[in-house]
Amino acid sequence: MRAADVLTEITQVLVTEEEIRARLDEIAAQVAADYEGKDLLLVGVLKGAIMVMADFSRALPTTAPMDWMAVSSYGAGTKSSGVVQIRKDLDTDLHDKHVLIVEDIIDSGLTLSWLLENFASRGAASVEVFALLRKPDAAKVEVDCRYVGFDIPNEFVVGYGLDYAERYRNLRDVAILAPHVYS
Ligand code: XMP
Ligand code: MG
Repeated sequence: MRAADVLTEITQVLVTEEEIRARLDEIAAQVAADYEGKDLLLVGVLKGAIMVMADFSRALPTTAPMDWMAVSSYGAGTKSSGVVQIRKDLDTDLHDKHVLIVEDIIDSGLTLSWLLENFASRGAASVEVFALLRKPDAAKVEVDCRYVGFDIPNEFVVGYGLDYAERYRNLRDVAILAPHVYS
């Protein structure tokens, strides 16, 4: 479904499906060039990154393997706490792999900075980050993110994998959730 189908529940469409597709093609070409001849492993962070992983990995011209990690950062409602717990660990040994973490969004940056530290101790040859969305005004810690899809304002967004209470992940577009939905 499109953001237009839930117009009373959103205040603004930030990024359309078409804009996402076009940007994923650009980043996939860049990643393919940067990792040519390297043993690339895509690591998606569940559940938010499912859509971006599905479309990004298929935009790549190489057969990169993928693995998944599930983490939860506890906090009230729509804010991340920075206390991260692994719900599902990787199945892959990272030793000597060139890891590209595929994330839906960098908000405070707390989850990713924790993940980067965690991965650094597993012997990967390199670890880089691709985040579809980033909120520059929400950063609490700096995260070195090599590939960014779109910088967006500091608002709670849903769609394209991002949820509120497990809903809206199946919106094709990214939109700002109307405050009346969560307050
Ligand atoms: P942090 O703050 O640690 O973000 O960079 C951690 C995770 O929180 C989720 N997140 C969001 N989910 N709309 C959502 O639906 C948002 O605006 C939003 N901001 C953060 C997301 O899973 C991210 O990886
Ligand atoms: Mg996430």
